[in-house]
Amino acid sequence: MGNFVDDKNCRRRFLRLLAASPLLAFSGFSLTPLKRLLLSDSESATNSLAALENIAQGEDLITSPEQALNVMEFEAVARKKLPPAHFGYLATGVDDDATLRANREGFARLQIRARRLVDVQKIDMSVRLFDVTWDSPIVLAPVGGQKAFHPEGEIAVAKAARRKGRLQVLSTVASSTVEAVNEARGAPVWFQLYPTNDWNITQALTKRAEAAGCRVLALTVDQQGPNNRETLLKSRRVDSRQCSDCHLNGFTFNAQVRQRPMFAGLDVSNVNATIPRNVTWDIIKRLRDVTTMKLIIKGIVTREDAQLAVEHGVDGIIVSNHGGRGEESNRSTIECLPEVIEGAAKRIPVLIDGGFRRGTDIFKALALGANAVCIGRPYLWGLAAFGQPGVERVLQIMRRELEIIMRQAGTTSVEQITQAYITDRRR
Ligand SMILES: Cc1cc2nc3c(=O)[nH]c(=O)nc-3n(C[C@H](O)[C@H](O)[C@H](O)COP(=O)(O)O)c2cc1C
Repeated sequence: MGNFVDDKNCRRRFLRLLAASPLLAFSGFSLTPLKRLLLSDSESATNSLAALENIAQGEDLITSPEQALNVMEFEAVARKKLPPAHFGYLATGVDDDATLRANREGFARLQIRARRLVDVQKIDMSVRLFDVTWDSPIVLAPVGGQKAFHPEGEIAVAKAARRKGRLQVLSTVASSTVEAVNEARGAPVWFQLYPTNDWNITQALTKRAEAAGCRVLALTVDQQGPNNRETLLKSRRVDSRQCSDCHLNGFTFNAQVRQRPMFAGLDVSNVNATIPRNVTWDIIKRLRDVTTMKLIIKGIVTREDAQLAVEHGVDGIIVSNHGGRGEESNRSTIECLPEVIEGAAKRIPVLIDGGFRRGTDIFKALALGANAVCIGRPYLWGLAAFGQPGVERVLQIMRRELEIIMRQAGTTSVEQITQAYITDRRR
């Protein structure tokens, strides 16, 4: 009993401290109920104090985008709001999710070498990609079926991208059409292409994207499915809902493709793969023959393939392992980046994605020579948690964090961020 009273008093002292904390004041959390409780002695006050203690211990969830201190805080809200299988689809890697984790762990090996006594009053984060200037190097990666995360899906993301002036890449298997997304974005997005096994379909998708005004086609080459997404499969075990919005005819690829708006009106009876097993570098020429869009390849992770991309006249590369959803390589994309940069030999732009959660992660990729960085899951956590405002806040937080580290490191423009600003702790 004595301990309980001591615990209670101790808890009370801690919460008083918390109420006075500038951190909490900044977080947007209202302090009035906490202060009121501290003046009360009732049983309910004791219970509420226990609940508040949980908040103090970080077990709380943010209730509005403004409260978020970092992008990870959206993940917990997304997990709570989404049906288990939809969260599983978002979270999954393959096998043991080791490559998914490696994508994050890769950043820890790189340390930032900050320079001092530099005038950092003005920080310019802008980058140029294919003759368009963007306000920051942060790009929204293509992710299929975003209505699984929020009823407005890709449209909400497009509106957020428009407000924040960001580049959006739209997936072939999006849950909205390219025309609708371009309209919501107010400018053409880049279109991500899955080269299906039916050339008529691949051609039709490409032509449709070009007719909609898209100027860049990102050909994804890193999926030789079906692969072993165990986290997704486990999440389905605890989710018995009939999700007819997403899976009218079950979980097979063909059944899902039929439902995707970009395939509407096309005869998809022969389509059975997003990326056919016999696709080779010949596809570059075949695509060149049907489109004048810039053609970039998403999913390159080696020097050899970067060199081949240049030789085949590809216009750009996205270093990607599909967010750890392709092969379980145990290799992070940030570790792949230096050799891809070497292979590309400054002939074409190199973008990267996989595990980017902090401004410092982006800084490290830029220092290694990336031209821009794509993010996947973070903006979907924002979307699932709060719709368009959630996506906007994620974009704002990542931009702000990049600005902070650029200032701290003494780099006032993206061009200034070179290898001199990082060191690899293994060397
Ligand atoms: C739920 C989900 C769906 C995805 N769908 C696609 C897709 O349709 N096309 C594609 O090229 N990449 C797709 N990706 C991969 C992303 O474009 C990107 O490579 C990856 O999410 C980056 O890693 P990150 O999520 O750690 O930021 C998807 C990723 C996730 C998480």
